[in-house]
Amino acid sequence: MSIKTAEFLVSNSNVAKCPKNNLPEYAFIGRSNVGKSSLINMLTDRKNLAKTSGRPGKTQLINHFIINQSWYLVDLPGYGYARVSKKVKKEFQKFITQYFEEREQLVSAFVLIDCRHEPQPIDKEFMQYLGEKQIPFSIIFTKADKLKPKALERNIENYKQELLAGAWAEMPNYFVSSATNTTGKDEIINYIEQINLQ
Ligand code: GTP
Ligand code: MG
Repeated sequence: MSIKTAEFLVSNSNVAKCPKNNLPEYAFIGRSNVGKSSLINMLTDRKNLAKTSGRPGKTQLINHFIINQSWYLVDLPGYGYARVSKKVKKEFQKFITQYFEEREQLVSAFVLIDCRHEPQPIDKEFMQYLGEKQIPFSIIFTKADKLKPKALERNIENYKQELLAGAWAEMPNYFVSSATNTTGKDEIINYIEQINLQ
């Protein structure tokens, strides 16, 4: 599938105000700075559709982008950003969990993990939370351009082993991406397209 149109629709901090129609949607979640907004730009081939920054904490709201007039990509604020105040963090947490628990149009989430890092408790906890709520998700290992293929393979294998030693009986579906050189683009878009056709 090709993405013919991609437009920003609306930003919200209140889940109840998100678009009301029943188009399927796919949400990107993960630690601040992991590359959620950059990935949306890469997938849609638009440089500045979602706002990105080298400084964590850029995305602060639930952002809906409508793709081909028929489905949504949703950019969310990152979790685990230490430099926002406790109050702001609580507020984020509240509307992120509300989003995941109340948004019936959500077909699947993508949990983004920086491929360079060791498994982090906050990511594992978030995936466990999604599992408990029975919210389907895939993992996307981001910034693949930052590692040599061998190191990338080693880190993913390590991640797999940690998940299997913990709460997971099998490795969740996963992708590898780079917003810099478009690694993973076709795989992720085709995956979404296949689900939309079901
Ligand atoms: P928040 O909105 O703060 O939660 O961050 P985010 O997850 O949306 O990250 P964002 O897309 O803003 O990217 C953070 C930084 O990582 C930016 O400087 C991006 O240019 C950089 N970045 C994102 N993806 C990649 C990638 O695949 N490769 C490389 N080399 N850099 C990337
Ligand atoms: Mg962002």
